[in-house]
Amino acid sequence: MTGEQSFISLRGVYKTYGNQLVVMDKMDLDMRADDRLVIIGPSGSGKSSLLRVLMGLESIQGGTICFQGQTYIRAAEHKGKPLDAHLQQQIGMVFQHYTLFPHLSVLGNMILAPCKVHGLSKQQATEKARHFLARLGMEEKINSYPSQLSGGQKQRVAIARALMLEPRLMLFDEVTSALDPEMVIEVQNVMLQLAEQHMAMIIVTHDMHFAKHIATRVVFCADGKIIEQGPPEQLFKQPKETRTREFLEKVIHFN
Ligand SMILES: Nc1ncnc2c1ncn2[C@@H]1O[C@H](COP(=O)(O)OP(=O)(O)O)[C@@H](O)[C@H]1O
Ligand SMILES: [Mg+2]
Repeated sequence: MTGEQSFISLRGVYKTYGNQLVVMDKMDLDMRADDRLVIIGPSGSGKSSLLRVLMGLESIQGGTICFQGQTYIRAAEHKGKPLDAHLQQQIGMVFQHYTLFPHLSVLGNMILAPCKVHGLSKQQATEKARHFLARLGMEEKINSYPSQLSGGQKQRVAIARALMLEPRLMLFDEVTSALDPEMVIEVQNVMLQLAEQHMAMIIVTHDMHFAKHIATRVVFCADGKIIEQGPPEQLFKQPKETRTREFLEKVIHFN
């Protein structure tokens, strides 16, 4: 796959915090519009940093990232952050810890950005919010406040809120890690529903069972490098690299 053909392509992406800690070490990565990448790897290997860079929350110090055929981030320009706000708005992200505004209702949370960013009227945005909440089985919670929701419900609202901006790519950073087990499934089901609708996704998770289920490709990262990547059936069953094998033995044992 060449950089021009892919939906997202990273070339030589280099990111450090301070002078010492390299979290993306000249990383190359390609993703197609119909891919669901699952990123796995030890804690501290730079998985969240990669997502935060794509979201424009962190800068890069080397390399280039293309998105939908356009130069999206280039280290040498715009301080290594997204060059194009329009492209940036086509990426949605959901984090491990709920990022809903506590002083706003579910509806308030959902319509804030669409009204500001897309210039929708309150009525248009409300209609849209109802549509997405219904899709995720959350319509009756439209007037609830975050404190009145379970963890799983909060994450579903966070996903619905991201979908309001009609992203082309969704990033999920350990979105079920802080949830009680019985709530994990309801959030994973929403993600599987998005997969069925062919949403492009990059998912960081430690849940290897879910990874197997949802990924078109699994990417194993360590020390800011991609050690190995492949379709889930290959990477989980027959990892080529010793490091991948050792990591999988540990996490699958503990799962
Ligand atoms: N804003 C930051 N400033 C300094 N160091 C950071 C920052 N964010 C993350 N790090 C460090 O960078 C490394 C990679 O972090 P991260 O991308 O969160 O890894 P992962 O998500 O794989 O656990 C870790 O050692 C972490 O402590
Ligand atoms: Mg992380």
